[in-house]
Amino acid sequence: MDGSPDKIQAIADEISVCNKCPLCEGRTNVVVGDGDPNARILIIGEAPGKNEDLQGRPFVGAAGKYLDELLSIAGIKREEVYIANVLKCRPPGNRDPKVEEIEMCAPYLREQTRAVDPEYIVTLGNFATKFILKTEVGITRLHGQLKQAGRFRVYPVFHPAAAIYDRTKRDALEQDFARLGELLKGEGSAESSG
Ligand code: URA
Repeated sequence: MDGSPDKIQAIADEISVCNKCPLCEGRTNVVVGDGDPNARILIIGEAPGKNEDLQGRPFVGAAGKYLDELLSIAGIKREEVYIANVLKCRPPGNRDPKVEEIEMCAPYLREQTRAVDPEYIVTLGNFATKFILKTEVGITRLHGQLKQAGRFRVYPVFHPAAAIYDRTKRDALEQDFARLGELLKGEGSAESSG
């Protein structure tokens, strides 16, 4: 953990002027990321939604409120983590992003991950988990399993937005965050990935 606020700011400046792919059509803001650049935990979501696009910050809508509850289950405050998305712009009409759009945006997250240099990466849902673990295995099978990817401990969980109205996912997500709190206090071992 040797996050550099200057490095993070340099990446944010670079992303904020990005105009390279159609994801920026109709956007209000580029949602770079938010939080402590020295965070022990990096949380990775998918892409900004409508509220995030309007406010320019990740997870400020209903999923964000629920994420705050989940963080408190793990005994963590939002200011103590860094939150970023794989995609920095909301796909127009909220459609699925195209492969080439994902490829253009992904290097920014890689740079952010290196700059924050967290101990734990918590991936929210299939999209972020596939991106970080380079796996086709779905989140239903992977959630709650601590993996090692390079120097990072990766902890995949369901996406909070998917769990808001699904009791089963909600229970699993809350259990997974309770375990995350335990992992942060003590130490669990991670299964190697890739
Ligand atoms: N869902 C995400 O994946 N990211 C956000 O920032 C908000 C909702």
